[in-house]
Amino acid sequence: MSGFTGTVLITGATAGIGAACARAFGQAGARLILAGRRVDRLEALAGELRDAHGTDSHRIALDVRDAGVVSRVLEDLPTDWRAVDLLINNAGLARGLAPIQEGEFRDWEEMIDTNVKGVLYVTRAVLPGMVRRGRGHVINIGSIVASEVAPNAAVYSATKAALETITTGLRLDLFGTPIRVTIVHPGLVETEFSVVRFRGDEQRAADIYAGYKPLEPADIADAVLYAATRPPHVNIDQLTVKPTAQARVGMIDKK
Ligand SMILES: NC(=O)c1ccc[n+]([C@@H]2O[C@H](COP(=O)([O-])OP(=O)(O)OC[C@H]3O[C@@H](n4cnc5c(N)ncnc54)[C@H](OP(=O)(O)O)[C@@H]3O)[C@@H](O)[C@H]2O)c1
Repeated sequence: MSGFTGTVLITGATAGIGAACARAFGQAGARLILAGRRVDRLEALAGELRDAHGTDSHRIALDVRDAGVVSRVLEDLPTDWRAVDLLINNAGLARGLAPIQEGEFRDWEEMIDTNVKGVLYVTRAVLPGMVRRGRGHVINIGSIVASEVAPNAAVYSATKAALETITTGLRLDLFGTPIRVTIVHPGLVETEFSVVRFRGDEQRAADIYAGYKPLEPADIADAVLYAATRPPHVNIDQLTVKPTAQARVGMIDKK
C-alpha cells in the first residue's frame, strides 16, 4: 500500500466516499482534517482511525454552503493544522430525480450551493496557503454525469459539469506552481447518496443498487490515494471509475 504522510482535508467525511478516503489515508499514514455537519460521526471515525492506525486527526463542523463559516473555520484552524497538503472536495449530494418541468427550487439550490459553490468556498480558503508554501494537491470528486447527462437529473449533472470546468480552470490558474489538480469521476457507488437523494426512502435507495455489484466507497478512495501518491512531476488529470456492470449512466447489467 502507498504511504502518504501529509495533512489531508476531507469534506463530507461523515459517510460514504469521504469516510472511505479518511480510512484509506489514515491507513497510509496521513494526518486528517475531517469535515462535515454530523460531528458525532466525525468523532466516531476519528476514534476508529486512532485505534486502528494511530491516526492524528482534527475535526471541524462545516456546512460547505456557508461561505462565512467556511472562511472563518478554515482561517481558525490550529497553527499545526493549517498546512493542508491535500484537499479532497468530496461533500456533495443529489436531491430528487425529476424532469426539469417538475423540479423543486429548493433541491436545485441545495445541489448548486453544495456541489459548486461549496467546493469554491473551501478551495478559495485552502489554496492561498498551498500557493504560498509551493506545495499541494486538490482532488475533486466529480461524477460520470458530468459528461453523460443523467435523465431526470439535469441540475445534478450540471453541478458536476460545472465542477469539471472549475477543475480545469484551477489547473490553468495554478499554471507555474507545483500544485496538482485532479478530478475523480465515480459511476454508481453504494453509499448514503441515494437515501439522501430520496429523502430517507430506504427501499427506493436500495433498488438503485440491486441486481448487480456496485462500487464500494473504498474503490473510489483507492483511486484518490493513487492520484495523491504519484511522484510530484505526475499530475493525474482525471480518473473515471465505474462498476463493471455499468457501461454508462442508466445502462446497468442487472440480473
Ligand atoms: N454514490 C455515488 O454513486 C456517487 C457517484 C458519483 C459521484 N458521487 C459524489 O461523491 C461525493 C460523496 O457522495 P457519497 O456517495 O459518499 O454520498 P454520502 O454517503 O451521502 O456522503 C455525502 C457526504 O457529503 C456531506 N455533505 C453533504 N452536504 C454537505 C454540506 N452542505 N456541507 C458539508 N458536507 C456535506 C455529508 O456530510 P454531512 O451530511 O454529515 O454534512 C456526507 O459526508 C459527492 O460529491 C457525490 O456527488 C457519488
